[in-house]
Order: sequence, then structure tokens, then C-alpha cells
Amino acid sequence: MNKSPDWPALRADFPILDQTVHGKPLIYFDNAATSQKPRAVIAALVRYYERDNANVHRGIHELSNRATAAYEGARARAAKFLNARSADEIVFTRGTTEGINLVASSWGATNLKSGDVILLTEMEHHSNLVPWQLLAQRTGARLAYLPVTGDDATLDLGKLDALLSRQVKLFAMVHISNSMGTVNPVAEMCARARKLGIATLVDGAQSAGHMPVDVQQIGCDFFAFSGHKICGPTGVGVLYGRQELLDTLPPYQGGGEMILTVEYQKTEFKKAPHRFEAGTPDISGPVGLHAAMDYLDAIGRETIFRHDQELANHAYERLAALKNIRLFGPIQNRAGLVSFLLHDVHAHDVVTLADQAGVALRGGHHCTQPLMHRLGVESTARASFYFYNTKAEVDRFVEVVKEIQKFFAQ
Ligand SMILES: Cc1ncc(COP(=O)(O)O)c(C=O)c1O
Repeated sequence: MNKSPDWPALRADFPILDQTVHGKPLIYFDNAATSQKPRAVIAALVRYYERDNANVHRGIHELSNRATAAYEGARARAAKFLNARSADEIVFTRGTTEGINLVASSWGATNLKSGDVILLTEMEHHSNLVPWQLLAQRTGARLAYLPVTGDDATLDLGKLDALLSRQVKLFAMVHISNSMGTVNPVAEMCARARKLGIATLVDGAQSAGHMPVDVQQIGCDFFAFSGHKICGPTGVGVLYGRQELLDTLPPYQGGGEMILTVEYQKTEFKKAPHRFEAGTPDISGPVGLHAAMDYLDAIGRETIFRHDQELANHAYERLAALKNIRLFGPIQNRAGLVSFLLHDVHAHDVVTLADQAGVALRGGHHCTQPLMHRLGVESTARASFYFYNTKAEVDRFVEVVKEIQKFFAQ
């Protein structure tokens, strides 16, 4: 597709957007939680179940061959989507959360001991925090955090070198903050860790479908994302692992599909990535995800990023012109979302009243409770955008915010 896509035509690919909610046209601004699905993805799922459904890697019959080809084809597509060197570096998971838990379990079992340190940032989603806490409790390792600077929620990179001590064995970081919209310089952060032999993991839940991602350029050891946030189905995700590292890790779960031979007392495992995919996998998930990746790359993720950023900048500027509002996240280089609090109005009340006006927002701690506490708040309201959203929707959303302020000023 060329540089300026036909945005209204793309929006028309999403049947769910064409409806009213509480009698008002739906404005879907909860894309950081999950994205909507285009017809191409829905059709791929229907086609798979209507024509090709069978178990993978097992049968020799036609349908099983087709299902296996579709499943492995999606793996090769995911490798291309992330610019991995090989499809063997792609493990299918249930989502970002499972990808991170897999690394914490398999990498953690062989690489961490008491006294070691796992370095995180203060803006991590619970998915990139709680698995490391559990691992630290199991091993006697400790967690350390790279601080954020304040309401603009950028990382204090000046403190990084001091934090990258000899005890640090893994540095795990979010690429784009789901609650603040910060875009972190992950390539630089990984390079600084790598020089010291520290393993790195990037949580790409908010970046993979919103900007070009090249794991070789980032230089990370692991990168995780979820299908449902990038126009794909729920229940499927991708974990990229650098092959030399992935091949050294023990299995995550045991069962069928991940073995070469099994005897009563011992088992020989397949190589990565199959070693990490025990049991019958979600097959339709990767099929739908394949269609989603094709769809996004036909638009161009650079183009999507610019579009979403324009909406976010517009929303930020218009909200900043209001009185009695606190805005979070960076002013420059913000990803496609805005996070805010109205004085004396709970974020949940903002979201409830916005819903009555047809606007779907998210209110709460956004699974970043430690960050909320660090900023001295319990919650924020968040509007998060995708390429099918429009400037007119942002303008309507700002009018709704003004109406909410008026309502509470009475
Ligand atoms: C930054 C970030 N990391 C991890 C996750 C977890 O993703 P999932 O629930 O799809 O596993 C999310 C979901 O909101 C997220 O925004």
C-alpha cells in the first residue's frame, strides 16, 4: 500500500465499529486493552474451520497436512514480522503474559541463583513484573528497578549504568508503556546490558502491532507480544528467543508434541521451538494471527505509528487546554494513547459517563499498580488509539470529557 492509505476504507474493514452504544455511535478507544478484528482475520478463521481443521504434526492425511502447513506458515510469517533470523526462534504462546512466564520458568531455572538481580523498569505491566517476583521468591534472587522521572513517565537512563551491576543477570523492559504511552529506547538499553553479558527481554505487547519491530536491530534475547492487540485473535501470542539461547533452555511444560522419544523413566525433547509447545496448540490462533500480520504490514507499521501518534498528540493538546486536568506520559514522542485524571473525579466515573456517550475508555491502574503508586495516584483514565480511529472521534471524546467536567462541577 502507498504512503497515505485510504483510512475510511480500512475502518470499513472492521464490522464491529459500525454500531451504536447507548444510542450513540461507538467510539472505541480501548485499543491498548485489545484491538478490533478486520474481516480478513475473521474470514481466515472461518476458512480454517470450514476447510482445513485437523490436528497438527500428527496425521499424514490431507487435512492434517494443511493444518500443519498453516500453523508452520504462521510461524515463518511471525519470524518475518519481527525480522527474526529463523522461524525456529518463534514460539507460539497464549500471549505476552505466557511468553514472559515461559522465560521466567525455563531461563530462570538454569540461569539464576540466590543473590542474582533481575533488573526491571518502574513502568512495567504486571505481566513483566509478577513472573519475576515469583522467580525471585523461588531462587533467592532480587528485583531492582530503573526509575521513571515523574508525570512525563520517561526512564531515568542516567541511572542505568550504575544499576547494571555484576549481579544483574537479566534486564526486562517494556517497549511502549500501556499506561503512559512512553516509547522506550530499547535498542540502546539492550546494547548497554549486552555489553556486560546480561540477558534482555522486551515486552512488546504495545509495540508489535503499532510500530516496525526488528529484533535483530533491537538486539534483545527475548521479545514477547500478544495476537489480540494487533488485530489477531485472543489466545495466541509470540515469544521470540535468540536461537543460541532458546536451544539451551529446558522445556516449559511437558506433554505430547514436544518429545522425540519417551520411555517410562526418561524423555528426549525436540529442539526449540517445538520443545516449548506441549500438547495440541491453538491452531486457528496462529492462522488468524498470520492474516493480521499480513493486514498490518500491507498498511505499513511506520504509517500506523504516525497516524496513531497524530491522534494522541491532538488529544493531548486539546486536553491540555482544559482546566483541572492532570496529564501523564511524555509530551514528545508519545505512542498512540493519552492517560489523564480530572480533579476530584474518579477515573472510573469518567469511564462510566464516557460509556454513556458511546466512548469506550479504560480506567484503573492498567496493570501498572506500582507505577501508579510511584506517581501518587490510584488510577488514571486512558484513551488508546489505533489506525481505524479518527480525528473527529478524538474531538468528540474531548467534548465528552468537557461534559463530564461540567456534570461534576454542578
Ligand atoms: C505492556 C503490556 N505488557 C503485557 C501485557 C499482557 O498482555 P496479555 O494479557 O495479552 O498477555 C499487556 C496487556 O495489556 C501490556 O499492555
